[in-house]
Amino acid sequence: MGNEPLKVLGLAGEYHASSKSGMLVNAALNLAKSQGAEVVFWDLSEQPLPLVGEEGCWTHPNVQAFQALLSECDAFFLSSPEYHGTMSGVMKNTMDWMYDKHVGGKVFGLMSTLGGVTNSNTLNHMRIALRWLHGWPVPEQLAVGHVKEAFDEDGHLVDDSLKQRLESLVNSVLKAAEKLRA
Ligand SMILES: Cc1cc2nc3c(=O)[nH]c(=O)nc-3n(C[C@H](O)[C@H](O)[C@H](O)COP(=O)(O)O)c2cc1C
Repeated sequence: MGNEPLKVLGLAGEYHASSKSGMLVNAALNLAKSQGAEVVFWDLSEQPLPLVGEEGCWTHPNVQAFQALLSECDAFFLSSPEYHGTMSGVMKNTMDWMYDKHVGGKVFGLMSTLGGVTNSNTLNHMRIALRWLHGWPVPEQLAVGHVKEAFDEDGHLVDDSLKQRLESLVNSVLKAAEKLRA
């Protein structure tokens, strides 16, 4: 890594850090931290983002703080639950507060949690939205199906192959962010 640590933001498409998406993002952030990154988790239960378009949203202090933080960060981990075959409304609304000027040319690591069988729908849909933001999602990605059984009591992934996929996702994001920052 360069002199300054990479600053990495984690975003979950659910309101609580204790949600499965929150746990997955925080697992990624912990790995990034162990490699020297400065990490931040945006907790929507403490700082909710208004719906884009609702009364007062454009000058909402949480939106201003969120967009300032986006601008400061070098890379992002996003994890959304799959709802009806796509990302949650919470994740889409969070992405709707991002613009090219905040995240363009920056690296993204994408993750998704599913109640049912693993698939890549949500990951693909997030990837498409990021194209409009000029974001650079790395090729590695992680979908965790049957997510109710995926974590142990300490919040660690149970399955070794999922752990390895998470590690390679985090490594890829940090490596790419380091290169793009240079
Ligand atoms: C409205 C709604 C729609 C859902 N649609 C799907 C779905 O299409 N496929 C699936 O596997 N799970 C579906 N689920 C289950 C969620 O994906 C699962 O509960 C979630 O990933 C758990 O993560 P969380 O704790 O971060 O919400 C749905 C859940 C809700 C509430």
